[in-house]
Amino acid sequence: MRKKMIAGNWKMNKTPKEAVELVKLLKDKVNTKESDVVFCVPAIDILPVVEELKGTDIMVGAQNMHYEDKGAFTGELSADMLIESGVSHVIIGHSERRAYNGETDETVNKKLKKAIEKKITAIVCVGENLDERESGKAIDVVKGQVCADFKDISKDDAKKIVIAYEPLWAIGTGKTATAEQAEEVCGAIRNIIKEIYDEKTADEIIILYGGSVNGKNAAQLFAQADIDGGLVGGASLKEEFAQIVNYK
Ligand code: PGA
Repeated sequence: MRKKMIAGNWKMNKTPKEAVELVKLLKDKVNTKESDVVFCVPAIDILPVVEELKGTDIMVGAQNMHYEDKGAFTGELSADMLIESGVSHVIIGHSERRAYNGETDETVNKKLKKAIEKKITAIVCVGENLDERESGKAIDVVKGQVCADFKDISKDDAKKIVIAYEPLWAIGTGKTATAEQAEEVCGAIRNIIKEIYDEKTADEIIILYGGSVNGKNAAQLFAQADIDGGLVGGASLKEEFAQIVNYK
């Protein structure tokens, strides 16, 4: 039985003080018994958020990480820096980083390997854009990304990675994929994992849906057989996030 995971992606929102205020608002409202709950916060907010979450089961994630251990990479953060700061999860290959920061399947693959080596749980994002969806290529595009992102990763390691299916046309647009559309692709991703590895790995891997998840649509999305929870952007910055976590 796969445990549900609900992760908030705060993106570039909340100063350290505002971050602590949001955590104070949410921490006693989210039910961490039934789902793993992760707040993926801006790097500068990690230390104060970790401090504020002490004594709770809510986990803290970063939104990016470098694939090298250290060195001349101005502005970057290493896995060791994140781990020592209390981070357990890291989003890798979000479509915004692919679009604006030169992230490619090749760098995603290197980062996933580093995350595995350092035992930090990666949440890798894949998804098609509107043109690709409208021309019927959604599943092919996602397959290409999954195959490239998981290249040379063993099956024991693959199941430690969380996959987030995030169709680009649904991110921040208020236009959610229907539960059927989301399930179709999440099911296809599970099948791709089965083809690359085996049925057991496909059964165990956690697959999230992301893209305009809100308090109203969460229950229907998360009830789908192959959707193990959500990666939530806009609605993770409000009290509504508790409603999403406590969707049942
Ligand atoms: P959204 O963002 O929930 O605001 O659509 C999701 C994401 O980008 O992870």
